[in-house]
Amino acid sequence: MIAAFDIPVTRVGRSKLNDIPLENIPFGKYFTDHMLEADYADGEWKNVSIKPYQPLQLDPSLAALHYGQAIFEGIKAYKDDKGNAFVFRPIENYKRFNKSAARMNMPEVPEEIFMEGMRKLISIDKNWIPGGKDHSLYIRPFMFSTDTMLGVRPSETYKFLIILSPTGPYFAAPMKIVVEEAYTRAAPGGVGFSKNAGNYGGSMLAATTAKQEGYDQVLWTDAFEHKWLQEVGMMNVFFMINGVAVTPSLEEGTILAGVTRDSVITMLREMGIPVEERRISIDELLDAYGKGQLKEVFGTGTAAVIALIKELKYKEFIMQFDVNNAPVAMAVKQRLADIREGKTADIHQWMWPV
Ligand code: COI
Repeated sequence: MIAAFDIPVTRVGRSKLNDIPLENIPFGKYFTDHMLEADYADGEWKNVSIKPYQPLQLDPSLAALHYGQAIFEGIKAYKDDKGNAFVFRPIENYKRFNKSAARMNMPEVPEEIFMEGMRKLISIDKNWIPGGKDHSLYIRPFMFSTDTMLGVRPSETYKFLIILSPTGPYFAAPMKIVVEEAYTRAAPGGVGFSKNAGNYGGSMLAATTAKQEGYDQVLWTDAFEHKWLQEVGMMNVFFMINGVAVTPSLEEGTILAGVTRDSVITMLREMGIPVEERRISIDELLDAYGKGQLKEVFGTGTAAVIALIKELKYKEFIMQFDVNNAPVAMAVKQRLADIREGKTADIHQWMWPV
């Protein structure tokens, strides 16, 4: 464990907690009393502090607003029946955050600021962790460039923050998805594997167009042929074909290496279900559907956890799935919940005590 890092704390005079019901909370709408803030300048991190949650003052020429050096993570904290707080696999998000930083030419955030800062912040706002089913405290670490200049070059100064949001389920209902053929999310050599803000900004138009057609999100395909499947909306995707769980592989660098994706692969293998991480095309999917072999499709992500997909549309073809009979997705969802709630042994030490 890292030596205790002495982060100064300024506490709020009055908590907002009594004003916000911690049940049936929408995703990412409310924020806790405190936040962590740190600055990078002159080649080092400084001014690390925990303070009341508050607006930031930004110069109009702030580099992040113009050139998009901005990255983030999504992590969840839970509380057990004894009131102890745990975070799900945060070290994986910490490592991924610094991979995103490297790709976006930003400085790495040291472990004691990210991990110990997060621990201290959560312990201060621990009463904000909701206890309800599928509820959690969503943790949002993020970093952006803060030079005030319009020249296009990597910023020399950055801000790192962690904010916390008590939250309910992201997608309450099973989803309808359309296979995207016009827009592209990521290409090899690009930034698709990183969790940079622009990946999400670039996805909005496709999602809006899908919504206009009555769909919830898109299934992204490759940039060249629009046939190799990548991610669904903001989640990794799994297809149950002939008893095998198939999920797009990471090596092209076009999809996010999801922490939930990795956890699901591990759990599926423990459950005796074969997993294939490989390229998978829309043609293979249509063929398997036609033969009655494609039984379940689901998305995985920190915000959504496991999201069932009830319909996939590609050109004029519509594939429908019985979400009331999705044994693999439901078993994986339950196993994850059991680990979080301490009902199944946490053999991989995924739950990090605060
Ligand atoms: C997450 O699952 O944490 C995500 O990044 C999705 C999000 C942008 C809401």
